[in-house]
Amino acid sequence: MKKLKYLLFIAQAFLIGSLAAQPYKPSPGIDVKVNALLAKMTLDEKIGQLTLYTTDWGSTGPTIREGYKNDIRSGACGNLFNSHTVGFVRELQRIAVEETRLKIPLLFGFDVIHGYKTIFPIPLGEAASWDLEAIELSSRIAATEAAAAGLNWTYAPMVDICRDPRWGRVMEGAGEDTWLGCRIAEARVRGIQGKKLGSTDAMLACVKHYAAYGAATAGRDYNTVDMSERFFREYYLPPYKAAVDAGATTIMTSFNEYDGVPATGNKYLLTNILRNEWGFKGFVVTDYTSMNEMVNHGVIADEKEAGELSLNAGVDMDMQGAIYQRFLKQSLKEGKVTQKQIDEAARRVLRQKFELGLFEDPYKFCNEERQKAQLLSPEHRQAAREVSRKSIVLLKNDKNALPLQRSQKIALIGPLADNKSELIGNWNGAGNADDCITVAEGLKGWNVTQVKGCEMEGADKSGFDAALAAARNADVVVVTVGEKAMMSGEAASRTDIALPGVQEELVLELCKTGKPVVVILMNGRPLVIPQIAQNATAILETWWLGTETGNAIADVLSGAYNPSGKLPMTFPRTVGQVPIFYNERNTGRPYNPESKWTSRYIDEVNAPLYPFGYGLSYATFMYGQPVANVSYTAADTGKKHPKSPVTVQVAVTNTGKVAGEEVVQLYVRDLIGSVTRPLRELKGFQKVMLQPGESKTLTFTLKPEDLRFFRRDMSFGSEPGEYDIMVGGNSQDVKTVRVRLEK
Ligand code: BGC
Repeated sequence: MKKLKYLLFIAQAFLIGSLAAQPYKPSPGIDVKVNALLAKMTLDEKIGQLTLYTTDWGSTGPTIREGYKNDIRSGACGNLFNSHTVGFVRELQRIAVEETRLKIPLLFGFDVIHGYKTIFPIPLGEAASWDLEAIELSSRIAATEAAAAGLNWTYAPMVDICRDPRWGRVMEGAGEDTWLGCRIAEARVRGIQGKKLGSTDAMLACVKHYAAYGAATAGRDYNTVDMSERFFREYYLPPYKAAVDAGATTIMTSFNEYDGVPATGNKYLLTNILRNEWGFKGFVVTDYTSMNEMVNHGVIADEKEAGELSLNAGVDMDMQGAIYQRFLKQSLKEGKVTQKQIDEAARRVLRQKFELGLFEDPYKFCNEERQKAQLLSPEHRQAAREVSRKSIVLLKNDKNALPLQRSQKIALIGPLADNKSELIGNWNGAGNADDCITVAEGLKGWNVTQVKGCEMEGADKSGFDAALAAARNADVVVVTVGEKAMMSGEAASRTDIALPGVQEELVLELCKTGKPVVVILMNGRPLVIPQIAQNATAILETWWLGTETGNAIADVLSGAYNPSGKLPMTFPRTVGQVPIFYNERNTGRPYNPESKWTSRYIDEVNAPLYPFGYGLSYATFMYGQPVANVSYTAADTGKKHPKSPVTVQVAVTNTGKVAGEEVVQLYVRDLIGSVTRPLRELKGFQKVMLQPGESKTLTFTLKPEDLRFFRRDMSFGSEPGEYDIMVGGNSQDVKTVRVRLEK
């Protein structure tokens, strides 16, 4: 019965998600209402709609500075963030709709990044599932819970592509790949916004951080970004567009500059591309005081000018900067901005309030019973467990050390084995560490001896002896090591991305006992772990899995679930290889380890420790030779030939002893282009479940647009010539078929 209820819940979630997938268009009749309201508004009230303040959510509960309450009352602040839970939101909304002149309801925003109360894996972890339905479901549940707790706007999805694991915010995104990043961005927007805005479980999504924030120089957060327009459009820009095309209603600017202009004042990004090229009809919000920070960037002299630059560039709402509130009136008087611009920005914000149905019922997200029923419901926990185990990546499994046998005596070691506080990771919404299942709890009922061994940080090795004694006394060692949650996320860049403290030493000492050592990694970024990779018997990358951590890990350790995750980011051998990513281009001197005068290091190989797309299973898979229908007319040569897709077929066989799921990946390389092309680019994948001995032939379809790129003259199209199409279980181990696009 419980299972049936859960399945019905999943089916319903998907029905909702799959219906909404087109760029946001204002609903019929909305603009008539918005314009009627605008006509009644004073200039101050309009500017109020462009203003967003945070409350001071303290460690023990919500508070709001008296000044902000007055701002709400006077209509000077039309939107809040970091205020949630029904009781708190209701009171603030009451002030807006009972004590203001025009009774315009507030938007309530919050960073619901991987769950509200039921915490799901960090987004980088979920990306490792390569399961778009699971990711959509996770976002759907996050939105359902948040919308039951008074919220109607989430600052997600974060779609910044990143090739540098030193950057702490890689945990919030989908990793290094553009194509996968696009698909995940779409899934998340569908999940967040649900079937229709206006439903009590649908929130406004906010795509962030526009644009190229993930390319911060040297992986240092907030740092400048510099790249060619070609690389920007090809690698970094598409996920924002994919999210916009999937119907995202709001977008957040980024802290960084693009081409010398801070994103928040960058008209090229916010007007030329976003509004003119893409036709975005939602509203643009700054990141936290990013408008004010343009003074530090040195492109304007003061905050008043920052407001002018922003509004002229296309920013509608000022997050926390109080610049529009303080200066926009004066700027209008001086003719630095126009009334039309202010009206248009207010119109865009008000539109969303109408879309959400807040004018009909400002308290529609404030239902105590719904809050009680939704938060941390058994269905949500069950879904979190399933998504969590799908996010785990098996990096190594020598001698089939995993799965474990019930009869085995386990030494459970490491600082994270019974730790609850780190499991929800960074950006953990309203999640409680106490609601998390630890690994020790997940292994309840097994024959386990638990010893900590060491702390996550510091040099203290006094716990090693007890850990080693427990290991010697056991059949198998399971050691949990990783980063603290606050070591990644915002403002958490690291130069050394090895395991902190003496954790690696502990693992290596345990390996010396000769017992099989299973390493469980919990972290928010690819780590540098070459020694562990060499010496451990088995390795599971579990990221931070959230509320159901221990259950999901136990499911994988026991074999109740056969891991199928694949890395969404390359794991380097050394931090000196960073930035490192799979879809690089050839140089004129391609890597040759035998020759000094090629593109290489003298002290390390070029290859990563684990490539993009890598991950093992308890089953093994054999790939057949891919076959393609070879010849079709290039879509973009201007001739009127039929534009037919390329289809590629490949047989995949489970050669193992247990059923398993494989993520079959398809990569493309254009051999000769008018500009250099990546050695491989992901263009498709399928997740296939195979019984032992079973073989399935999968068909991939490459549409003409899948082969398009920015040609030498920056026009977007394909070119005739030869293409390699590669299929495999990761980005390096592939089988290739060559196809030709005719003129
Ligand atoms: C972050 C954003 C976040 C915002 C509001 C900023 O510091 O960069 O990602 O949405 O704060 O919390």
